[in-house]
Amino acid sequence: IMFFTFLLQVIWILAAFGDEHWTYEGPHGQHWPASFPECGGNAQSPINIETNSVTFDSDLPALRPHGYDQPGTEPLELHNNGHTVQLSLPPTLYLEGLPRKYVAVQLHLHWGERGSLMGSEHQINSKAAAAELHIVHYDSDSYNSVSEAVKSPQGLAVLGILIEVGETENPAYEHILSRLHEIRYKGQKTSVPPFSVKELLPPELAQFFRYNGSLTTPPCYQSVVWTVFSQKVQISVGQLEKLQETLLSREMEPAQVLEQTYRVPQPLNQRKVLASFNQDESPYTTGEMLSIGVGILVGSLCLVVVVYFIAKKIQKKKLEDEKSVGFTSVQATE
Ligand SMILES: *[C@@H]1O[C@H](CO)[C@@H](O)[C@H](O)[C@H]1NC(C)=O
Repeated sequence: IMFFTFLLQVIWILAAFGDEHWTYEGPHGQHWPASFPECGGNAQSPINIETNSVTFDSDLPALRPHGYDQPGTEPLELHNNGHTVQLSLPPTLYLEGLPRKYVAVQLHLHWGERGSLMGSEHQINSKAAAAELHIVHYDSDSYNSVSEAVKSPQGLAVLGILIEVGETENPAYEHILSRLHEIRYKGQKTSVPPFSVKELLPPELAQFFRYNGSLTTPPCYQSVVWTVFSQKVQISVGQLEKLQETLLSREMEPAQVLEQTYRVPQPLNQRKVLASFNQDESPYTTGEMLSIGVGILVGSLCLVVVVYFIAKKIQKKKLEDEKSVGFTSVQATE
């Protein structure tokens, strides 16, 4: 019996090593290249997007999500995989506006430490957001499955949505966040009724950054066409706390909260970051510009009128003063 338990232990240890274990922190840190060489490549994700250094590309086609607002009838599977919370997506959701047709596979989130407002993977001008949503797609024109596409350049297309904290609860994100307590332990799954994935995206899809990068977790394959939206979405502070505090990274006790699930920005190296919109453009719309112009005009007119009346009044007072001086002086000479 003792020999048998020993054998079981050996098998268990071997299995644990075979699992290609990785973590965001702790003794392993983010020193992933030692076990996953591609993580040390020169086109890794995420990156810090410096808006002064991006290239405006007027030829970038608009990104067109299809089926995102028609979630279908099949329930979606929500899964705690020990690294993140992941929602399966049906292939009826797909993207146009990229080199080929990319169909959806899954979405998942990245977030920071408990209480931290910095947990996104991508940064804009060295500023992280509170969290980040990734919607993963693969090139279904060229490949039969995501596992076939995952190693090939531009095999995957991922949408990156930066999440910040706002005043109100975001009902779309509640479809995921309100169910986290059902999948606290690693490996647990639950079914989520279909909902409009479109609502998870920012309203303004026309403004985005585009670059070639990688998976942000091991094995870090450099196979991703990235689209990071310029506009952020908002969730409430309570929702962020749910994300940061609910999930555990182990299958059993001792419990360890799954937090700080983001990779730090990687060197851009020789890569180009394209922008679908012109950064130099005024932040105001034409309507706003017009009302500002009218405002300035009316304001200046009012000022001219006021100055005119003040000047007139001063002149009148001066005249009266001169008159009275003249009068007294006349009186004095009499
Ligand atoms: C990404 O790589 C492809 C293939 O090399 C290239 O055609 C495309 O211009 C690159 N995209 C960007 C944004 O650099």
